[in-house]
Amino acid sequence: MCSSAWINLICSSCTKGVTFFFLHALGYYARVQGVSYLLEAFLKKTECNCQIVNLGAGMDTLFWRLKDENLLPRKYFEVDFPMIVARKIHNIKSKHPLSKPIIETHSGDSLLIDSHSLDSSRYSIVGADLRFSSDLEEKLKKHQLDVHLPTVLVAECVLVYMTPQQSADLLKWAASTFPVAMFINYEQVNMADRFGQIMIENLQRRQCNLAGVEVCRSLESQKERLLVNGWENAHAIDMMKVYSFLPQADVKRIEELEFLDEKELFEQLMQHYCICWASKDSSNLGLADITF
Ligand SMILES: C[S@@+](CC[C@H](N)C(=O)[O-])C[C@H]1O[C@@H](n2cnc3c(N)ncnc32)[C@H](O)[C@@H]1O
Repeated sequence: MCSSAWINLICSSCTKGVTFFFLHALGYYARVQGVSYLLEAFLKKTECNCQIVNLGAGMDTLFWRLKDENLLPRKYFEVDFPMIVARKIHNIKSKHPLSKPIIETHSGDSLLIDSHSLDSSRYSIVGADLRFSSDLEEKLKKHQLDVHLPTVLVAECVLVYMTPQQSADLLKWAASTFPVAMFINYEQVNMADRFGQIMIENLQRRQCNLAGVEVCRSLESQKERLLVNGWENAHAIDMMKVYSFLPQADVKRIEELEFLDEKELFEQLMQHYCICWASKDSSNLGLADITF
């Protein structure tokens, strides 16, 4: 997950270990809250009669969180490289708290599971490369993806690892495949400024190449990518803005856990990540109204 990006950057910029963990946790908190806010708005508009497709899901545990909160969509899909999927399936099989909700929500025939995919009634994980959308679509359809159901696609710290052409193709595929849909993207922004350049250099030094960083130039370039690839009503806001929308009582309580003496660094970091979202809404569900 994207925490490595935070760690890499902060280790190089900050001398205090406690502060580094604290800034990391605070940024992660804002990201989870921000993405959840948009997702829950979509689930509300569709009354959970929808699908979630988590692209490049890694070890994300959103499915389990939604199950706990009684907010599961009709079906939740995850996609990642087969090697990552194999590791996740191994974890699910070997940890009862992970497998239990999948088994509990499954009905009908026995659930399908092999080393690179798992398919149950409400949760499915598919090993595929996001750069090849026809293969991706075929695999998802084998797991009962219904393109006519409202669908929210989520990509957190994923598109930046693809070239601009590859992420554009993925966005175009999603926009042309689902008539009623929303796309939520979380990743870097403002990467052309001095702070952004230092982030890139630090990551490169650790062999982490951001092939798609060019699109992370600005909030405008992020929005533009969504709009030119078939999406409507695109928005992009930096994480400092998201942070300002969070419940202030919670923020105050969390900030008090550790004296935030690196406030300026924190603000700079937050200004270099963003949430972007866009929708398409041929059923007039009001998806365009979803905003912070
Ligand atoms: C930085 S991690 C983010 C994981 C998760 N979204 C999160 O935020 O916790 C990026 C993930 O995207 C996956 N990924 C990157 N490019 C991909 C591609 N072309 N096809 C499938 N998965 C990809 C990686 O394997 C990795 O699990």
